[in-house]
This record gives sequence, C-alpha cells and structure tokens, in this order.
Amino acid sequence: MGSVIDSSTSLLAAQTHDIVRFAMGAPAAEVIPTEEFRQIAGEVLTDASFTYGATEGEPELITTVTEQFSSGSTDPERIVITSGGMQGLDLAFKLFTDPGDLVVVESPTYTNGSGTALSYGADVLEVPVDNNGMDIDALETLVAETGRTPRMIYTIPNFQNPSGTTLSEDRRRRLLNLAHQWGAMILDDDPYGACASPAIPFPASERSAG
Ligand SMILES: Cc1ncc(COP(=O)(O)O)c(C=O)c1O
Repeated sequence: MGSVIDSSTSLLAAQTHDIVRFAMGAPAAEVIPTEEFRQIAGEVLTDASFTYGATEGEPELITTVTEQFSSGSTDPERIVITSGGMQGLDLAFKLFTDPGDLVVVESPTYTNGSGTALSYGADVLEVPVDNNGMDIDALETLVAETGRTPRMIYTIPNFQNPSGTTLSEDRRRRLLNLAHQWGAMILDDDPYGACASPAIPFPASERSAG
C-alpha cells in the first residue's frame, strides 16, 4: 500500500495530455545542471565508489554542505547526509517529536511530510498558505486557539510544494521569533532553494528560517 502521492502518480501516468503535477516536486528540466553532473560524475566515480562509506555521509560532501548552507557557522559534526529528503524528514520527526506533540504544517503541504508527522503520533495543526507562504497571523491565532505551544513547525519556505509560493523575508523573521517564543523547532524542508534565482533570499547567510 503506497502513499496518496503514489496513487496520484499512478493515476497521472495513465494520462496522455500535458499535466502539471502538484504532488511530487518536479523542477523544470532546465534548472537541473545535467551536463555538469555528468561531467562531475565522470571525474569522481572510481571502483571504490560502489561500496559503503561513512554512515554520516562523505566527509567532503559534509564540508561542502556546511560551507554552502550555514556560511561556516555550523560545526560539520552536526551535519548528516541522508538518502533523500524523506529520510531526513523521517529522522527529524522520529527524533524530535513525541506522540501527542503539536506539529504545525502548512495547508496545503507535501503530504508525505505531514503524513510522517502523523505516523509518529503528532497532533497536526494546519496553517493556511497564501501568496507569501505560511500565513503567520493565522499561525498565531490558530496556535492560540489550541491553548498549547507547538513542538515543531514544518515548513517548505522556498517554492512551497504544492503551492509554489516562497515565504517572504518579513514572515521568516516573524516565524523565527514565534518559534523562539514557543521553544519550537523549525523543520525547514528546502529541496528547491538551490533552484532559486538571485531574486530569492539565498544563500543561507540571508535566510532566516532553518
Ligand atoms: C517538499 C518536499 N520534501 C521532500 C520531498 C522528498 O524528497 P526525496 O525524494 O529526496 O525523499 C519532496 C519530493 O517531492 C518534496 O517536494
């Protein structure tokens, strides 16, 4: 038995006309540097590439990720390379939430993300998304209505899946302040930030959530 996304993918595979899919993220082919990847793979692949490496990830990749995404402010020992985004989401919910914890998710959101929170017994609170990402006024109101504070806020701040919106800088700051106030963790699911044009708040030194 698969996820909702698996079912929609099979349904769509049977269609012959052009379809924009809002389930799995599918960046436009032209933003993927396929030729560069081919060239780099040709340079780095050796016979030794096809065996197990360090569990936490290849040291060189960890160094690069640390420099690129934290401007060097994070200790490389705090970085773990996962097998895709889903493993990261699974680990984060498994490690940082307990059954009955309040977890904020965007509405709509990536259902495999919210589904993972539910699978660990979280109470999921849906907060609407508008043209500037998660509606922070609604977040404050809806959380206040629960009489509780969230343990985790799951957000997709860049090119949100499925809405495609990007969280504005002002909202990022407000979200960060609220998370501090509540003692909540922000789970920043950002598979698409690296596809950003210079107009989008990137690199990491300019990003506030995460
Ligand atoms: C927002 C978001 N997070 C996570 C994932 C899953 O990533 P992966 O395929 O690397 O597990 C997707 C895939 O579409 C996604 O859109």
